[in-house]
Amino acid sequence: MATSRQPWWSGGVLYQAYPRSFADSNGDGIGDLAGLRGRLDYLNWLGVDGIWLNPTFPSPNHDWGYDVSDYLDVHPDLGTLDDLDALIAAAAERGIRILLDLVPAHTSDRHQWFAESRASRESPRRSWYIWREEAEGQESVFGGKAWTYDERTGQYYHHLFLPDQPDLNWLQPDVRDAFDEILRFWFDRGIAGFRIDVVHELVKDPPSRPNRAKIHDVLRRWRSLAAGYEPQRLFVGETWVMDLEELASFYGSNDELQLAFNFPFMFAGLDAAALADVVERTEAVLPHGALPVWALSNHDVVRFPTRMCDEDDAKVRAALLALLTLRGTSVLYYGDELGMRQVDIPAERARDVHDRDGARTPLPWGEVEWRNPWLPLGANVATVAEQRSDPRSVLSFCREAIALRHGRKDLVSGGYTPLASPTGVWAWRRGSGSVIALNLTGSKAILPLAGEVILSTNGRDDSSRLEPWEGVVVALT
Ligand code: NOJ
Ligand code: CA
Repeated sequence: MATSRQPWWSGGVLYQAYPRSFADSNGDGIGDLAGLRGRLDYLNWLGVDGIWLNPTFPSPNHDWGYDVSDYLDVHPDLGTLDDLDALIAAAAERGIRILLDLVPAHTSDRHQWFAESRASRESPRRSWYIWREEAEGQESVFGGKAWTYDERTGQYYHHLFLPDQPDLNWLQPDVRDAFDEILRFWFDRGIAGFRIDVVHELVKDPPSRPNRAKIHDVLRRWRSLAAGYEPQRLFVGETWVMDLEELASFYGSNDELQLAFNFPFMFAGLDAAALADVVERTEAVLPHGALPVWALSNHDVVRFPTRMCDEDDAKVRAALLALLTLRGTSVLYYGDELGMRQVDIPAERARDVHDRDGARTPLPWGEVEWRNPWLPLGANVATVAEQRSDPRSVLSFCREAIALRHGRKDLVSGGYTPLASPTGVWAWRRGSGSVIALNLTGSKAILPLAGEVILSTNGRDDSSRLEPWEGVVVALT
């Protein structure tokens, strides 16, 4: 029987780097691509397989890169196309892939396409955006109406987000062709795949509603375009839906997204029953052969140590152990590996329209620190330098968990089997020989497991009981 080789993200770790806050190479206070390149050895040491960069395209930054004014270039704050090429090459030398963040649902109002579209009702680009005589009542995600009146031509255009982010009309075939070209441009440069912004709302028909059938058409089209590339390119979607059946639909028959972000998991809380439930249902509902993807944080939500773990590192380790031992792909948001907390942003330093700055602050490196960073540096977590030299740090633990994930076949590709366990304990088996058990309570728990503890969140090696908030990986004997 022919065996199909698993893709790199199966059992892999994807690292989400927010480029403006990862590492700054030129001291202007803004992280950049050269800074990231200079820190690849850190990410290689940590053990990540791929890096997803938040938008790197030129943008007026009304929504920090999610308002793209040119899909085929690099934002000058971050560097140049040459810097991106250099990053792809330097990452490849370390076996690390680079993914970009594609923002197909809307452009910036400064994009040339929109400038042409709004110029006249007769413009050949008019139909690339959604124009109507009347505004309907729909609200935008950031508040205010989803329709803005444009005086020059006396019509309203649609925008699910800011008025500076007009929505593209995905019913227009030329828009689809234009994005095919964009995908090819980046795939040809060696980009390993894309995270797709608001993919669950990509095609609007009518404008007030996502048209799921038509979204699936676009995803199948992209998969067949990507099929012409070797190695296989990855599409991971921002599928912000809370229904798992709906989430699963974005995998199609394994001919749409290869990974669809699981927000029910992100928001389950550090609760054994809730986590076990969402993981079990996810595993049940995905098409055969599909891989789940797990994340605890991203640039839009409060960092997980603050949101789920009361900023208690015992809980942070337990959450990280779960993240890094589940089947499929695990995504670390930059700083998760440190247990980085949400940072309080004084009103005068706020930059984001939607109050998300506290999750986007510069990574504290420790030895060479940021000068005048664009957002304040939090002082509420130990730096990379401090944690690297401490074998008991969250960072050292996270690295060990990643190494175990890569080094143990059960954790790379073994199935997920839930195990019966006392209330407040979440336990499961991976493959035939590895058990993960997390005590998500403040009391000791008894869960006798016949085997050897190969990783514990608090460095113990006793498989007969779990300390409060302790998590273990046990090799069954
Ligand atoms: C989701 C992105 O993650 C978020 O940061 C952005 O504001 C919206 N999409 C609009 O593009
Ligand atoms: Ca810089």
